[in-house]
Amino acid sequence: MRSGHLEALGPVCPVCRAGGIDPEKSRLAPVSLFEEEDGHIVQGLLRCPNPACQREYPILDGIPLLIANLRGYVAGAIDQIGAREDLDPEIEGLLGDCCGPGSSYDTTRQHLSTYAWDHYGDLDPAEMGEPRPGSVLRVLERGLELAGGLPEGPVLDLGCAVGRSSFALAVQGDRLVLGVDLSFPMLRLASEALRRGRVRYPRRRVGIVYDRREIPVSFSGSEAVDFWGCDALDLPFPEGTFAAVVALNVLDCVASPHDLLASLPRLLKPGGKAILSTPYDWSPRATPIEAWLGGHSQRGETAGASEPVLRALLTPGAHPAAVAGLRIVAEERDLPWRVRMHERSSVEYRVDLVVVERG
Ligand SMILES: C[S@@+](CC[C@H](N)C(=O)[O-])C[C@H]1O[C@@H](n2cnc3c(N)ncnc32)[C@H](O)[C@@H]1O
Repeated sequence: MRSGHLEALGPVCPVCRAGGIDPEKSRLAPVSLFEEEDGHIVQGLLRCPNPACQREYPILDGIPLLIANLRGYVAGAIDQIGAREDLDPEIEGLLGDCCGPGSSYDTTRQHLSTYAWDHYGDLDPAEMGEPRPGSVLRVLERGLELAGGLPEGPVLDLGCAVGRSSFALAVQGDRLVLGVDLSFPMLRLASEALRRGRVRYPRRRVGIVYDRREIPVSFSGSEAVDFWGCDALDLPFPEGTFAAVVALNVLDCVASPHDLLASLPRLLKPGGKAILSTPYDWSPRATPIEAWLGGHSQRGETAGASEPVLRALLTPGAHPAAVAGLRIVAEERDLPWRVRMHERSSVEYRVDLVVVERG
């Protein structure tokens, strides 16, 4: 965590925010700095100053975990938080064999493989031929073109995964970029890229066979980037903190896509813009059916389509639950976005891009 981001963005205690406490009384402050390195707090504690709260939030491997249900999160992710980073790839392979397919160890490696490949594979000299990585960068680039650039001020990259889009946003101008996600292993990879200039990940070849890849990386403007652990549906920021929000392929990954959309006017400054992309790949593992935008009830007016529901929610008066204070300024259909599974398998989604502005 960079102290500059902490000071400039002024995160508040997520528990107090949900309880309606004045942000000035719950702005998080560092109480213990156990390890610092080149302007990053690598290990430390932040505390809520509200005398009735006093909750503490850890900073681990440079990543602050600003999550309301911290106990639940840590209890569920402790294997990933405590995972060894120093193991030889052969030992890692043996451990992977022991845990087997479908284990949480395997699932974490698959996620790292998929997202690190797409985000950083273009910088890997060993990555040649088809399919071509970099689809998230191409979607972002098109989103920025459609938005006609972003207003001055901090940018939030929601669901940043392993972080390449945050680095790409930092070259767009002299502004702070904050990447947030809930996956600790993905944030750890992003933080390693930021602090150490190194991307190291298990690239899946076949079955539970993964090859270790190590890529040196360096991004101009990276001093403006930081990565935090936050819930996209419960963000710990005072109103109007961001000039822009980018949420690529996240809408169909959260429990309530409507709540994510509804949080945008609160997060954005007046005139702020949000760039959203989504493949509408609904799954009850992420989103209960009742909260999907379309994808069900094909007998209804929109025949189950998702696109008109998203558009109506972002158009004043077009839907009973339309989000007030936003208007669509540009949209584009069917951009390719690739999710690589292994050497012989990848899924190509067609995502829709929507740019909205806060009135
Ligand atoms: C489909 S991936 C897209 C990642 C990246 N934006 C991209 O396009 O390559 C969705 C990301 O959202 C994150 N995510 C899911 N639910 C979240 C939540 N409630 N808060 C923050 N991040 C979340 C996941 O961990 C994952 O990294």
